[in-house]
Amino acid sequence: MSDIKRVGVLGSGLMGSGIAQVAATAGYDTLVRDVSQQIWDKARGGIEKSLAKFVEKGKLPAADRDAGLKRLRFTTTTADLKGCDIVLEAVTEDLELKNALWKELDGLCPPATIFASNTSSLTIAAMAAATRRADRFVGLHFFNPVPLMPLVEVVRTVTTSADTFQRAFAFAKSLGKEPVAAKDNSGFIVNLLLVPYLLDAIRAVERGVGSVPDIDKAMQLGCGYPMGPLTLLDFVGLDTTYKIAEIMFTEYREQRYAPPPLLKRMVLAGMNGRKTGKGFYDYAVDPPRVVDLGL
Ligand code: CAA
Ligand code: NAD
Repeated sequence: MSDIKRVGVLGSGLMGSGIAQVAATAGYDTLVRDVSQQIWDKARGGIEKSLAKFVEKGKLPAADRDAGLKRLRFTTTTADLKGCDIVLEAVTEDLELKNALWKELDGLCPPATIFASNTSSLTIAAMAAATRRADRFVGLHFFNPVPLMPLVEVVRTVTTSADTFQRAFAFAKSLGKEPVAAKDNSGFIVNLLLVPYLLDAIRAVERGVGSVPDIDKAMQLGCGYPMGPLTLLDFVGLDTTYKIAEIMFTEYREQRYAPPPLLKRMVLAGMNGRKTGKGFYDYAVDPPRVVDLGL
């Protein structure tokens, strides 16, 4: 383990809860901040369920699970993270929201604390510039589901110091992840390639190229992908994908990043995918049933 001992996590949604899980089980004292106890209760429940699966499969000793859970604490007060050696931010994909949190913490954390954003598409430089520690600001981009996906993109922006980059890289390794270095361009490596593919799958639905389950089946069986693109969109969250597409489209002004009208309408209807129970599929039933989108 590195000189990092105490880890702060902002946000305990899909990603924040996964990041907190891997940090706590890797031995770090982990403090997670979200806006309500109801949200943490859900996060803690998801973490317990995920750890139970690892124990069941013999991938994690039960004692390590228990020790990991003991190292995990939750708060609604951002200032409680002031004693952390690294703060990993995984709140909603919104620059203003993220920067308000960074500004608050910048005034509270000691100078040595590293700030790391898990943003999918925002520019790391735009967050680093909101703080007085632009040299200690880095991107640490995890993948969903965090406990299972090995990759972390470690993003060095123009102001990130070599020391901060190396410490963040070593920290990702200490979580059992496989880090790669990426430049601070919107979407880094993976989303630069993945997002147009996911948006094209929605355009294929709009055009009636195939049904939702057939588009998924085609990409799974024809290309060997573990999930079809529409299942993956439900998994990532349609609200998050919409925000990512808007940000990448604004950045690159390329049509392939433009959010398709169907995506916007589904988000407006609260059909955000698995996390709200319904997206391209309805998760109230097992197995999930395809939703009639009236197309
Ligand atoms: N914790 C622990 N175990 C878990 C788990 C979790 N969170 N989620 C699933 N599992 C277990 C399941 O219980 C299952 O165990 P068994 O084999 O014993 O049944 C096993 O993992 C496999 O799960 P499933 O059978 O449910 O499904 P699967 O075989 O399809 O694997 C998957 C699941 C690993 C998620 C796989 O479908 C996959 O790799 N999907 C693609 C995910 C992907 O592309 N992620 C990147 C999204 S993009 C992103 O993250 C970046 C961004 O900025 C948007
Ligand atoms: P999510 O909607 O599941 O969770 C966001 C969490 O942020 C919620 O629990 C919300 O209550 C919390 N939040 C909002 N305001 C807050 C505040 N002021 N303080 C603390 N918490 C606050 O979203 P997510 O999918 O976990 O995405 C989080 C970040 O991770 C985004 O930047 C997203 O782009 C990125 N990301 C997402 C994925 C994915 O597959 N979903 C993958 C990689 C990166």
